[in-house]
Amino acid sequence: MILPHAAQLTVHRDPAELAAAVARRIAALIAQAIAARGVCRIALAGGGTPRRCYEQLSGLPVDWSRVQIYFGDERCLPVGDAERNDAMARRSLLQRAEIPAANVHAVAAELGAVRAAADYAARLQEALPLDIVLLGMGEDGHTASLFPGNPALQSEDAAVAVFDAPKPPPERVSLSLATLNAARHKLFLVAGKGKQDALARIAQGAPLPAAQITAAEWHLDQDAVPAKPI
Ligand code: 6PG
Repeated sequence: MILPHAAQLTVHRDPAELAAAVARRIAALIAQAIAARGVCRIALAGGGTPRRCYEQLSGLPVDWSRVQIYFGDERCLPVGDAERNDAMARRSLLQRAEIPAANVHAVAAELGAVRAAADYAARLQEALPLDIVLLGMGEDGHTASLFPGNPALQSEDAAVAVFDAPKPPPERVSLSLATLNAARHKLFLVAGKGKQDALARIAQGAPLPAAQITAAEWHLDQDAVPAKPI
């Protein structure tokens, strides 16, 4: 299988191996950024797939004092809601690795998508280009909170308000395609049979949102690889 625009494609035996391998890769990229610029600015992915990877990452030797944490997207839910992407990150990484609170730049998604996107875009200005962006992919080929056919895909701003998202909640904030693509390193974590169809469509050239991320490292587990050869 070939994914257009991908810089690299690695298939891992199972979700545990995917999590461990990507955690090691992230730690290496963080060290590389710190060595080059004294700081690493990373945007975390939401959803469920990265959780195990974050748990593994929290146990690796990283100089977290020099890491600034951003989020690829956030769901417009109240602060502390367990379904927020930052809540998953706090449980699986930020609290475990004792990352300084001042280094965590949460999206104020509780303000509503328009205000939160404007606030986040302003705060991002000092951080761009990001060093690392972690991304998941939905079964429809969305990534971050950029969904097929959604107007947010056209935004030229650093962060964008998202409405009518088909994956609840409907209102979200996302880094724009421009911001995601400008990052020095982009890593996809994709696992499970449910992602086979979207990957097959991307391999066949469908311009799904995840396919519009250029020069990314794609890390899949075996289950996510489409059954039929492409
Ligand atoms: C979210 C994420 C979303 C996620 C994909 C994959 O809010 O859920 O931003 O883009 O990364 O939907 O989710 P899973 O990893 O749970 O399959």
